[in-house]
Amino acid sequence: MSGASGIPIAVGLLKEMKKRPDWETHLVITNGAQKTIEQETSLSGMEIEALATKCYSLNDIGASIASGTFRTEGMVVVPCSMKTVSGIANGFSQNLLLRAADVTIKEGRKLVLVARETPLSPIHLGNMLTLARHGVRILPPMLTYYNKPASIDDMTRHIVGKITDAFQIETTGFQRWM
Ligand SMILES: Cc1cc2nc3c(=O)[nH]c(=O)nc-3n(C[C@H](O)[C@H](O)[C@H](O)COP(=O)(O)O)c2cc1C
Repeated sequence: MSGASGIPIAVGLLKEMKKRPDWETHLVITNGAQKTIEQETSLSGMEIEALATKCYSLNDIGASIASGTFRTEGMVVVPCSMKTVSGIANGFSQNLLLRAADVTIKEGRKLVLVARETPLSPIHLGNMLTLARHGVRILPPMLTYYNKPASIDDMTRHIVGKITDAFQIETTGFQRWM
C-alpha cells in the first residue's frame, strides 16, 4: 500500500483474500499510506496489517519479498501513488515496496498497479507507459456506472474484482457485463 487515495480498495482486497486459506498476503505499508489510512478509514494501520498473512517494515530491505528466490504469484500496489509509480518505472528500489515490485518485474511475475492521481501529468503518463510496455498491468481505480453501483462500497468492490481477476480469483459480488 502506498500513499495515494484508495485505502478502502486495499482493505477490500485484503478482506477478500483473507477468505481464501490457500492464498497468503504479504503486506508493506509506506509512510505515505500511513497518512492516507488516517484520512480515509477509521481503521488503524495495525488493524489493516491484521488482515494480511505477514507484514514487513518499509525499511526491511532484507525481507523475504526482497528476493526473487521467494516465490510469489505476483504483487499488487494498491493504492499506488505517482511517486511509487516513478520509483518502480525507474528501478529506484529505495524501500521494500519498491524493491519487491522491482523483483516482481525482473522475475517476470504479475504486477498490478492501482495507480491513482488526477489529472495525470505527462510525467505520470510517461512512467505508466514505460511500465505497461514491460507488462505491468496499470489498473487505475476509475468510476464505472454500467454496473449500476448503489454505493461507494459497490464501486470499491468492482475495483477489487478487477484486481483479483488478474490472478483468476473471483471476488464475491463482482458484477460482470453479460
Ligand atoms: C490524503 C492524501 C492523499 C493523497 N493522494 C494521492 C494520490 O491520490 N495520488 C498520488 O500520487 N499522491 C497522493 N498523495 C501524495 C503522496 O502520499 C505523496 O507523494 C507520498 O510522498 C507518496 O509516497 P509513497 O508512494 O512512498 O507512499 C496523497 C497524500 C495525502 C496526504
